[in-house]
Amino acid sequence: MKTFFTKHVGTSAIGVRYLSTLPTIKIECIKLNTITKHANTIKKNLDQHGFVIFDGLWCEKTQLLDIAPYFGLIQGNKNTDKNGITVVSSRTDGFDSTIPGVYSNMNFSPHTDGAYLDGLREENGIIKKVISPKLTLLKCLQSSDSGGETMLIDGKKSLLKAINEYPDIVPALFRHDSIYLSYEDILTMNQALFRMKPNGKLRLHYSYDNGFIIANWAKKAIDLFNKKCLDITYSFKLKKGQILVVDNHRMLHARTAFKGQRILQRIWIQDDFVNEALFERAMPKNRTYFSHRDKQRNALSAYRRYGALSSHKKPYPLDLDSGIYLSDHEKKELTNILFHNQKLDSIINLTHI
Ligand SMILES: [Fe+2]
Repeated sequence: MKTFFTKHVGTSAIGVRYLSTLPTIKIECIKLNTITKHANTIKKNLDQHGFVIFDGLWCEKTQLLDIAPYFGLIQGNKNTDKNGITVVSSRTDGFDSTIPGVYSNMNFSPHTDGAYLDGLREENGIIKKVISPKLTLLKCLQSSDSGGETMLIDGKKSLLKAINEYPDIVPALFRHDSIYLSYEDILTMNQALFRMKPNGKLRLHYSYDNGFIIANWAKKAIDLFNKKCLDITYSFKLKKGQILVVDNHRMLHARTAFKGQRILQRIWIQDDFVNEALFERAMPKNRTYFSHRDKQRNALSAYRRYGALSSHKKPYPLDLDSGIYLSDHEKKELTNILFHNQKLDSIINLTHI
């Protein structure tokens, strides 16, 4: 069992110079529970870097589905099979593309997974919150011939850059009427780029694509954030057998276009806070016209595929936290920008519709 850092130097396909030290944990012992022996190192790497890569015989031999329960509950989505696996690949000959997945060899721009998720779903009469997954796990089954580099952008660094160099854009990153995110039949209202989590950390939602709808008043600020604050922190090519674990509430990920066959498996890990959020329908005793329950159920059906697909009980052997941690000093700076430098109407969203 070894923990070490690999050095990776080069120029990415999109022309960005990178020099990164990748937090890598090499595990040669093939016993599944050896992962728990690395719990502290995994936590430390996620806190420090926002991600960790597993390398060695252990991850070559380990199925993603077998290790997911160590991280938390598997969260489903529209592109998963019944177990929660999503294939991320191109549609190339010899691969069964009827398996649920994301099929493309084009580049993916920087995003957090499930940025568009902020809703409710109903399961056996119980209403539950749906938000973006806290962790994204990716296992490389086959590396591409050329291209297909993974890029990671630290959302914490992006936010601190905005605070220090572009303070005027910061309110637009926190307001709940600046962006709306859509994906297929889902439209999330009142999302914000950064939101506060119950653990005091911040949760980032980002996906600058056709589903990302920006209010006109915030367009300039968010375009500037996109152009100036998303510096690629790490760029590397996942090797066959490696497993990447990313804090999806802190890190943006992207990838370059590729040629040849590149096959990854992906699993989302649900944020534990969704199980602590409680909801109940108002159920008046005298039935009224507006309370036909079956009709009301349709409103929550868009999110029905995004619930937990496993049900083991906490604590998971790796009880991992997610999100952007700010020091007291950083919080103070942010608070100053959001509350002291702004007019009241822009804080409480009165003027901009
Ligand atoms: Fe993604």
